Order: sequence, then structure tokens, then C-alpha cells
Amino acid sequence: MRFFGSEWHIAIWNRLDHSVRSGTSAAEAALGAPFWEYLTAKNPDAGAVFDAAMESTSAVQMGVVARKYDWDTATRVCDVGGGTGTLLSAILGAHPSLRGVLFDLPSVVAKSKPVLDSAGVTDRVEVIGGDFFAAVPEGCDRYLLQAIVHDWDDDSCVRFLSNIREAMVDDGRILVLEFVMPEHDGDHFAKTIDLEMLVDTGAGRERTRAEFDALFARAGLRVHRTTPIALTTMFELERAQVP
Ligand SMILES: C[S@@+](CC[C@H](N)C(=O)[O-])C[C@H]1O[C@@H](n2cnc3c(N)ncnc32)[C@H](O)[C@@H]1O
Repeated sequence: MRFFGSEWHIAIWNRLDHSVRSGTSAAEAALGAPFWEYLTAKNPDAGAVFDAAMESTSAVQMGVVARKYDWDTATRVCDVGGGTGTLLSAILGAHPSLRGVLFDLPSVVAKSKPVLDSAGVTDRVEVIGGDFFAAVPEGCDRYLLQAIVHDWDDDSCVRFLSNIREAMVDDGRILVLEFVMPEHDGDHFAKTIDLEMLVDTGAGRERTRAEFDALFARAGLRVHRTTPIALTTMFELERAQVP
């Protein structure tokens, strides 16, 4: 509620007209900077509120992700765009032999220590700050992407998905957690989040199952299986061709 009620977030929504007319981010129109730049460079207090909001939404999902996936088949999991580490902490907390890598922008992972410490997993997590468009940490067998794909347009997603496909071990898997946009014209929570992506990022959007399949194929990936997780779906991706 602190995120939804923040003056800067309300200012973004007050420029919905700009996004609807132009198809571009209202954040730039309202705040004078792209969404991520505003949160990380221009207004760190807003960034702290946003990171806490992501921790809260992760908290809704994390128990289910930790339980519903067979983590015993994994050894080293990297949470790409993993924020301050809430989801990764829950998974490692439930699976004591698993090791983790927390990867996000440097200013975001800098805030992860209290989260990892309170979960008692600090000694099993490598914290790495970086840009997933440049490269991601190498050699993990699972890569998590929760609420990342919906932040970006297809070309951008293909760039970081391809980086992960290159970085993961031969039989590695990518776990993508997202809403799936229904094909029908009725109400669905994914449509609210779709508008949130539009006003915040401009290029971000929710996708239908067919749109996900086409996107993953462009990055040389295919769906191995899907699992419903609360309101979202977890896509488990493998390389479309063995390297
Ligand atoms: C919607 S949040 C999701 C956070 C987390 N996965 C979760 O579900 O709580 C998107 C995350 O992507 C990170 N991010 C944005 N651009 C990035 C980049 N170029 N490289 C790495 N992380 C990035 C943000 O800092 C933010 O933590």
C-alpha cells in the first residue's frame, strides 16, 4: 500500500492519458526519468519503497515456489533481478543443501544483507550486482525470473533470456514466474498489472500463453512444463536444442 499510495506512483497514474495516447511510459512524462532510473538514481527513497513492495509480493509467492518445485534436482540457483533476496531466501531456507546467487542492479543487491541474514542463508548466497542485458552469473543449473519478463518488450527479453541460455550449465533450466493474460475479454487481474506495466515502463506487458511460447522460441528456449503458482504461472524452460 505504501507503493500504491506513494505520491510519485500516483503522479505516474495521473499521466495514464499520456501512456494510452503514446504507448510509452507515463513515468518519464510524470517524473522526468525512466522508471528504473528514477528508482535507483533519482529518488532512492522511492526505490526503497519499491523494493519493500517487491519483498511483500514475493512473500505471497515464496512458500509455494519453495514447496511446489522439485529443488532436490538443483544445486545452484541464480535469482536474476532477484531484488533484495526474499524469494531466494525462502527457497534456500527450505532446502539446506542448495546454494544461491542473488543478481540484480548493484544499488538493489546492496540492500539484501538483512533479508539474507534474517533467513539464515547468507553463507550460501553469492551476491552479485550487475546488468542482465550485459551478462548474468555463469554456471548455475536453475535461473529464476520472477516478475522480470513482464517489465520489458520482446526484444529486450530475448537479450537477457539469451544471456541466461548461454550462461547456464548444459542441462540447466530457467524458471519464469509471470501472470498469463487470458484470451477472453472479461475481467482478470493480469489486465490490471498489464496497465501498471504500461504506465511504469512503457514497453512492459503481460502476455498470453501463445505470446510466451513465441518469445521463448526466439531466445532458443522451449517450455518443459508449467506449474500454477498462486495467481501466476511458473514456466520451466529448457534449451530448444541441446548445445
Ligand atoms: C518487478 S521487480 C521484481 C523483483 C523480484 N524478482 C521479485 O519478484 O520480487 C524487477 C527487478 O529487476 C531489476 N532490474 C531492472 N533492470 C535490471 C538490469 N538491467 N539488470 C539486473 N536487474 C535489473 C530491478 O532492480 C528489480 O529488482
